[in-house]
Amino acid sequence: MANIIVVTNQKGGVGKTTTCAALAGIFVSRGKRVLAIDMDPQGNLSFSLGAEDTGYTIHDVMTGECSIGDSIKSTHICDVITSNILLSGSELELTSEHREFILKDTLNTVRNIYDYIIIDTPPALSILTINAYTAANDLIIPMTPEILSLQGLAQLRETILAVKKYYNRRLNIRGILLTKYVSRLALSKDVEEMVGIVADQLHTKVLDVKISVSAAVAEAPAHQEVITKYSPRCKAAKDYIRLAESLYPEIVEKVPEQNS
Ligand SMILES: Nc1ncnc2c1ncn2[C@@H]1O[C@H](COP(=O)(O)OP(=O)(O)OP(=O)(O)O)[C@@H](O)[C@H]1O
Ligand SMILES: [Mg+2]
Repeated sequence: MANIIVVTNQKGGVGKTTTCAALAGIFVSRGKRVLAIDMDPQGNLSFSLGAEDTGYTIHDVMTGECSIGDSIKSTHICDVITSNILLSGSELELTSEHREFILKDTLNTVRNIYDYIIIDTPPALSILTINAYTAANDLIIPMTPEILSLQGLAQLRETILAVKKYYNRRLNIRGILLTKYVSRLALSKDVEEMVGIVADQLHTKVLDVKISVSAAVAEAPAHQEVITKYSPRCKAAKDYIRLAESLYPEIVEKVPEQNS
């Protein structure tokens, strides 16, 4: 049964898509079966993972135009369900009584063929993000360590906690992931304290692993390669591997015991 991981923050440009692509690439490199779902109308994850902009998309799945199986595209990185700009109209289109559960219900039909399903979300709080939170096992919240990135978090907190209360009691908020991190010295005490407070309010923690700023991160999507393949030696790539191994220790290969 796939572990469903959602990467979310309604703030734009905090590293959601980068984190999804990196995790997908790392899981695949460890022999895991991965499905990546792009729920952002911008389509950045689809592009980063080398998926063609044709055929059925997650919009068609959500509106019942096709089955989830029909929408899955295989790229050289992993299986992907692409997004479509039409997704931005979902709020008005998805009006059924159980509209929060559309994604969860449809994922049930493919959960047994993947180890991880990774869902990228848009920089907004909408019925799409609610569907993602309702379907998720794990939530990861990337955040840049700057004061402006803390604005609007009350709304994010309320949405997550409401979904946990009403639609998905088992939702596990794994933590706040600091991205584009320079060094502890550069992180102001105020910001550090405030991120800690936000984490407390979400009943979670600031993850120990932080993702460094690396120029290669911005270059990788143009080559439709994930950072750990495009520039495996850069700091951010190493940080993402540490993150994946710390959150999902099952991907760490066990060294066979030596017989003495
Ligand atoms: N660790 C990093 N080092 C350097 N640049 C980074 C890092 N992480 C992300 N970036 C760059 O920051 C920009 C925003 O990252 P990304 O697209 O992952 O954020 P996002 O939260 O998905 O944005 P949006 O909300 O628009 O979907 C991109 O140009 C990306 O290449
Ligand atoms: Mg994005």
